[in-house]
Amino acid sequence: MVLTLTVVAANQAIPVSADALSHTQRVSAFLHLQIQQAGGWLPFSTWMHHVLYAPGLGYYAAGNTKLAETPNTSTTALSGDFVTAPQLTPLFGQTLARQVSEILRQTDTLDVLEFGAGSGALAHDLLSALHAEGLNVRYNILEVSGDLRQRQQQRLAAWGDRVSWLETLPTHFAGCVVGNELLDAMPVELFAWSDQGEVLERGVVSSDSGFAFLDKPASPKLADAVRSRMPALPCYTSEVNLQAEAWIRDLGRWLTRGAALLIDYGFPRHEYYHPQRQRGTLMCHIQHRTHDDVFLAPGLQDITAHVDFTAIADAAQQSGLDVLGYTSQARFLLNTGLPQLLETYAQQQLEHPDPKDRAQTYAAVQKLISEAEMGELFKVIALGRGIQAPLNGFSQSDRTGQLDAQRAPPV
Ligand SMILES: C[S@@+](CC[C@H](N)C(=O)[O-])C[C@H]1O[C@@H](n2cnc3c(N)ncnc32)[C@H](O)[C@@H]1O
Repeated sequence: MVLTLTVVAANQAIPVSADALSHTQRVSAFLHLQIQQAGGWLPFSTWMHHVLYAPGLGYYAAGNTKLAETPNTSTTALSGDFVTAPQLTPLFGQTLARQVSEILRQTDTLDVLEFGAGSGALAHDLLSALHAEGLNVRYNILEVSGDLRQRQQQRLAAWGDRVSWLETLPTHFAGCVVGNELLDAMPVELFAWSDQGEVLERGVVSSDSGFAFLDKPASPKLADAVRSRMPALPCYTSEVNLQAEAWIRDLGRWLTRGAALLIDYGFPRHEYYHPQRQRGTLMCHIQHRTHDDVFLAPGLQDITAHVDFTAIADAAQQSGLDVLGYTSQARFLLNTGLPQLLETYAQQQLEHPDPKDRAQTYAAVQKLISEAEMGELFKVIALGRGIQAPLNGFSQSDRTGQLDAQRAPPV
């Protein structure tokens, strides 16, 4: 049976099944219990962690489809809630493989480690492209979602023991690390500036209608983090991703030689905490609709925040890593040879025409590089140790200079 759920924020009706409805009720009951056990108030980051990752309940930890399997065409219904670059076209992974191979050659290793591999599409495309180049890589995956890990194991079964799954962070690793839309999936701290210039931490409480926000004076750690990022702006709300920064500092401990390529949507700090972005960057995805009502249907929708790439670069430098490059996704893909790969694809199409695949591929490439779609909003940052820069992907239009923390947001 399909019932109708209404997304008030986006004023759109979202149909959900009776099973999905009872799932979100179970997730809500769990969240209310967590709030009660914490004394009536949960930091937003803890709430977001549960709503995304609580075992068997959270958005990434239950059996829902999440990532769309089918490329976007006018004739095919999209499954899941959102599409990521690897889901759009294998050309994304094939292009990224060129950068991965440069890093592997520089480190003289054959080890790749992907974090948050989603459906396994990127792993498959990287493995195929690197093997075609004669690089018989050992592909490691660290995935926090048991459900997605199973999906990856099915998708990558043909690669046998070339692929392994890690349970915990490595103690040492030399090679290439990859993470596409990893950092945006980490729980964030929410803050608000009071009228008096005090930093408040936004938490979640139970309310008659479900969940509501309640602000409290921020801990010294969060208040310091906010004050070091932006001037006081009354009624301004945004996020700080302390978990992502800690993850980067860890990377600095275990990445002994090599580089991490992290691809995500976000901005340098002066754009992130821009006075006009006064409601922050939290976004929800459900059935390919985007809105900002984080309390809608817990467990049925993804919740993400954009990445402050200045914070990522700072955390990397604090842990001894070099920022090897930072640029837009479009520029990175053009630098690493997407046009040449597209030309090869066009040749293949002349020999074996497949109009449907051709239409999907060109639409996907347009989406990946168009400034109005993913090309400009998504960025690629490379962090590493013992690597000679510039890497190919940043050979033109490297924007590392924009990550300077001293560039204060305009007031
Ligand atoms: C938005 S999805 C992106 C999936 C995939 N990379 C793609 O591009 O299609 C985020 C992924 O990161 C995983 N994830 C989140 N935090 C993680 C962490 N700390 N370590 C490893 N995986 C993580 C999620 O389970 C999920 O697979």
